[in-house]
Amino acid sequence: MHYLFVNFKTYKEGTGKNALSLAKLLASFHDGAVQIIPVVQSVDLKEISSVVPLNIFSQHIDPVNYGSNTGHVLPESIKEAGAFGTVLNHAENKKDNEFIGLAVKRARDVGLKVMLCAESINRAKQLAEFNPDFIAIEPPELIGGDVSVSNAKPELISDSVSVLKKINPKIIVITGAGIKGAVDVSKAVELGTKGVFVASGIVCADNKESAIRDLLSGFPARDSSKLEP
Ligand code: G3P
Repeated sequence: MHYLFVNFKTYKEGTGKNALSLAKLLASFHDGAVQIIPVVQSVDLKEISSVVPLNIFSQHIDPVNYGSNTGHVLPESIKEAGAFGTVLNHAENKKDNEFIGLAVKRARDVGLKVMLCAESINRAKQLAEFNPDFIAIEPPELIGGDVSVSNAKPELISDSVSVLKKINPKIIVITGAGIKGAVDVSKAVELGTKGVFVASGIVCADNKESAIRDLLSGFPARDSSKLEP
């Protein structure tokens, strides 16, 4: 299976009603060949997951339990709102290892898949110790720009893939930052990843439909294995 994770961030085009429309648009491209995973704000999760037949990820959870934790994102709420998994340690919301260890445990307690984001091979190695389902390699300086990680840092991708394979071959390696088109995707897959993590290339595109179509055309045609809910 290959993966197209789409991070809605807090872009206007990825918030509220716009988030719902975008998630529906993404679902219209679902054909089983590539798993398309919207990564949405926690307040939008429930509405999106109730009508969109895709596995949805939350952008974050906090390592808290039921109780006195005003303003925190409770893993149980995220699960109940329909999330399939959660991202942690995105470059825009970095956490230390103590936080990550506790948050991964809470995610597992409630049955959420976990994607951890890493900016470097060293950080990816550390994060592999938490046994996430996915590690996303994203050089922060390329996030939101027009130069893709596939073009600017191919060795970061291939080296991360081989290092992580040795540590834990079950971890699915994804890459992101500046991914804008089919060539970026095909190169990321050639370099050994199972897919890409895209935000601005879809969420901020004038023509989202053609952006999604173009990105999906960069994936290999078919692959039968699955990540089942
Ligand atoms: O989470 C993915 C994101 O950080 C990449 O952003 O805009 O470079 O696709 P972008």
